[in-house]
Amino acid sequence: MSRPDPADERLAGLRQRLQGLAYGGDYNPEQWPAATWREDVRLMHEAGVNLVTVGVFSWGLLEPRPGVYEFGWLDEVMDLLAEAGVGVDLATPTVAPPSWLAHEHPETLPVNGEGRRIAFGSRCHYCQSSPVFRHYAARITERLAERYAGHPALAMWHIGNEYIGFGCHCPVSVAHFRRWLAARYGTIAALNDAWGTAFWGQRYDSFDHVGTPAARSRTVSGPNPGQLLDFARFSDAAALECYSAERDIVRRHTPHLPVTTNFMGSFKHLDYWRWAAEEDIVSLDIYAGPQDPEGPLLAGYNFDLMRSLRGGKPWLMLESATGRNLTDGRNHARPAGQLRPRSLQAVARGADSVMFFQWRASRAGAERYHSAMVPHGGARTRTWREVTALGRDVARLADLSGGVCDPAEVAVVWDWESWWALESPDHPSNDLRFTDRLLDHYRPLWNANIAIDFVRPDSDLSGYRLVVVPNLYLVDDTGADNLTGYVRAGGHLLMSYFSGIVDEYDRVRPGGHPGAFRELLGIEIDEFAPMRPGETCGLRHAGHTGTATEWQDVIDLAGAEALAAYADGELKGLPAATRHRFGTGTATYLGTSPDRETLRRLVLDCVTGAGVTPVLDTPEGVEAVRRRAADGTEHLFLLNHTTDEVTIDLVTGPDRPVDLLAGDAPEPVTGRLRLPPFGAAVLRDVPANHL
Ligand code: GAL
Repeated sequence: MSRPDPADERLAGLRQRLQGLAYGGDYNPEQWPAATWREDVRLMHEAGVNLVTVGVFSWGLLEPRPGVYEFGWLDEVMDLLAEAGVGVDLATPTVAPPSWLAHEHPETLPVNGEGRRIAFGSRCHYCQSSPVFRHYAARITERLAERYAGHPALAMWHIGNEYIGFGCHCPVSVAHFRRWLAARYGTIAALNDAWGTAFWGQRYDSFDHVGTPAARSRTVSGPNPGQLLDFARFSDAAALECYSAERDIVRRHTPHLPVTTNFMGSFKHLDYWRWAAEEDIVSLDIYAGPQDPEGPLLAGYNFDLMRSLRGGKPWLMLESATGRNLTDGRNHARPAGQLRPRSLQAVARGADSVMFFQWRASRAGAERYHSAMVPHGGARTRTWREVTALGRDVARLADLSGGVCDPAEVAVVWDWESWWALESPDHPSNDLRFTDRLLDHYRPLWNANIAIDFVRPDSDLSGYRLVVVPNLYLVDDTGADNLTGYVRAGGHLLMSYFSGIVDEYDRVRPGGHPGAFRELLGIEIDEFAPMRPGETCGLRHAGHTGTATEWQDVIDLAGAEALAAYADGELKGLPAATRHRFGTGTATYLGTSPDRETLRRLVLDCVTGAGVTPVLDTPEGVEAVRRRAADGTEHLFLLNHTTDEVTIDLVTGPDRPVDLLAGDAPEPVTGRLRLPPFGAAVLRDVPANHL
């Protein structure tokens, strides 16, 4: 019998306290006078807020001088929130070390690949290998934990903020990198072999001679790929050490409370598979642009990733924007009404919260123009009306807290190490981007309301009807064997180009491409033929003619059959996509980037072939997602992301479902459901076979 996961017990306590989904945001009371705090809790009550993240950037205020603490203001805020019944997700403030630390210990400021020290004056200005930084970070964490461990407002812990894994090149980091390499390889000979240092005579005689990879501007030719990849691994691992040290401190004081740190979704520099295993619940900050027509798609894949990181368990959306982000040169307002479907989308895809950065818009500081729950105009604004209405929606979905989405029928492989290696320089094309490749494949699935889970190359794939591999440039033998075994045993797989090329050290697999998957795919590739920017080539697939861009593999069939062929150009008549029966399964391969319509056809052809069913056919821009309540009742979310009214035909069963968002005494829904622009419905008790 498997032992209960202690994280589940901690989260049960949080759910018990919240009595539903969490609603709230980052609360930065240190920016406001005490009179505003009273107004804040009154407004929080009005909006239905039950959880706020406090203290993320308050180190400089809590410890204004080394070893001198000012907790009075935080005591008062914690007391006020406790009285108001608002739980606190208390942050360790270590993402923003105080000015005195930078002044007295400039060696704690990180050094970039150009050899320049990062200055004080923003945030994240610390070297993650610095024992001095780690000492002071542990000390403030300890003080906070001992002071608030028994406070009634304390609901959970938030370690740091958006760890970035800054690859630091200071002497302390270099020494740390050497120790990390020595632990990984044992002998310098093993490192030389892994990095292929015979090339350009880069052989090392001692770990003491190894450095961090310098920025390209400081070298004459390209860097060593193995060194680059290990530095990415090391920088990730050093950040995780910082997180884990603080987590262990708060856990010692409050073993019953959940601990998290906020992820940035499809963020390149941290391997969130590894991070998720070190926290009780995954949480996400998401800032998909309000005017981006693909905003819901971009948010959707991030939400699916968060749900997948801990095997389908609920996660928290800790930050999003009620309106404007500050991510671009021109940052647009959020259209009226859009907040509702965009926020509920996270709940549909497994979030147990809707939360924002931040509660009250700042008057000063770099993010004074970032939107908030309480905008500069206060409670008379449209945003406030939408925020309070959303609070009512979130409260109506209380039963979903702790509920899960059923495992999907389609898995999409996501691997950070492969991402790092793919985007390392000196490739046949340096324009390949992992998230572009991923989105190309996710888009047709999302548009067709086909649920997906993200998986690792070595995950248990046996429950999936189709496994999609948008790009897996780097794969170790375990991952390659797992994917091969999945197809051999009857699985359907769709893999796209430049996959299976190198081993875990970024060394080309011998014998021709795609080394790890030649046998599985039944093809041989002797040439990669990247296309010039903007160049296209005709592509014929099942009576449809489209175009190919970006990349062409010169494919020799070695057991596979052609599924699509080039219609013109140098490779005219040669296969662009192939299909191979392997074992009792089927492996489909795409050797190019087709245009969206052609790719949609190819992806949906694999979906149909694998017997995968969509959640529901809906008009374009209307998302249909299923999620269960904690008691197992099925819920169907229908979210209209468009500015048009839409109607959806529902063949409802004898027990007509109610729309939980339709007010306090909702009428059962039959036949046609009308959704206004940006409308949303959550139909309770709609088993899949009823539609
Ligand atoms: C997040 C960050 C917040 C705030 C927000 C809005 O990435 O965690 O502190 O900066 O973005 O820009």
